[in-house]
Amino acid sequence: MQIIKEKARLNSWVATIKYEGGIIGLVPTMGALHEGHLSLIRQAASVCDWVAVSIFINPTQFDKPLDLQNYPQTLDEDIALLGELNLNIVVFSPTASELYDDKIEAEHFEFDGVELEMEGKFRFGHFDGVGTVVKKLFEIIQPDKAFFGEKDFQQLQIIRKLIEKTGLPVEIIGCPIYRESSGLARSSRNERLSDEMRQQASFIYQTLLKAKEKFGTESAKQISDWVENEFKTHPFLKLEYFEIADSNSLKTVKNKQLDTPYHAFIAVYAGEIRLIDNIALNY
Ligand code: PAJ
Repeated sequence: MQIIKEKARLNSWVATIKYEGGIIGLVPTMGALHEGHLSLIRQAASVCDWVAVSIFINPTQFDKPLDLQNYPQTLDEDIALLGELNLNIVVFSPTASELYDDKIEAEHFEFDGVELEMEGKFRFGHFDGVGTVVKKLFEIIQPDKAFFGEKDFQQLQIIRKLIEKTGLPVEIIGCPIYRESSGLARSSRNERLSDEMRQQASFIYQTLLKAKEKFGTESAKQISDWVENEFKTHPFLKLEYFEIADSNSLKTVKNKQLDTPYHAFIAVYAGEIRLIDNIALNY
């Protein structure tokens, strides 16, 4: 496994692999790797010759400086974990000034309104930061395919828009949410939950499953009201939003259409920790 920190070195690695006709899959991450990330890397390795794993805590996507400051930095552990996989992996872990050429700023994007829904309303400028860093990674690594988790479903749709807008020749592959045995979506934030809170947080996925069950017979409004009520009486979890939306445009559903795919999206505070999850409702 190679670990590369400089763009110039990465460029020559990419040139060699391309010359040999190798297929490169990219899995962008911010490190603090866990089974959720590894599931993406395994999926990438199953269809690519090489997996480039970027580990970069992207400053431009954090709306709160404290969140950036507190983001776990575990590069040595991450590299050890990746080494154990025994796959063709190249790790790209640049510094911020290396990746951004000393101009650490987000580009502004318009993603047909997808950026304005849900997470866009609660995390100002977040998707500009994500778009900026992923575009840079695509330009530097020139992957054939890139893998993103459905855990961050809105981010995945933003990246699809990025490809549509920039015309970069990268195939975007969405990967299923990796869940803990309780059903809680795996996240590095789960580590910050107490044992009890972590158990309680499985209520989020249980609620999504029930919402899916109800989707066949009840209106979106009825389901949203029901979810709000469920959380009102919950002793530990505070609902930030629950939305049923078109899976592609992410616009909130008004009247259900038979041939439109829908997702339910949820954000919940477990104490100080913000958790997000989602579920496909009708496919
Ligand atoms: P990060 O939060 O490290 O996540 C990296 C990738 O892992 C994302 O595509 C995310 O959706 C996926 N992932 C995380 N937990 C998952 C789970 N439980 N199941 C499936 N996939 C999961 O998302 C980011 O980093 C950044 O925004 C990034 C795209 C790297 C840009 O900076």
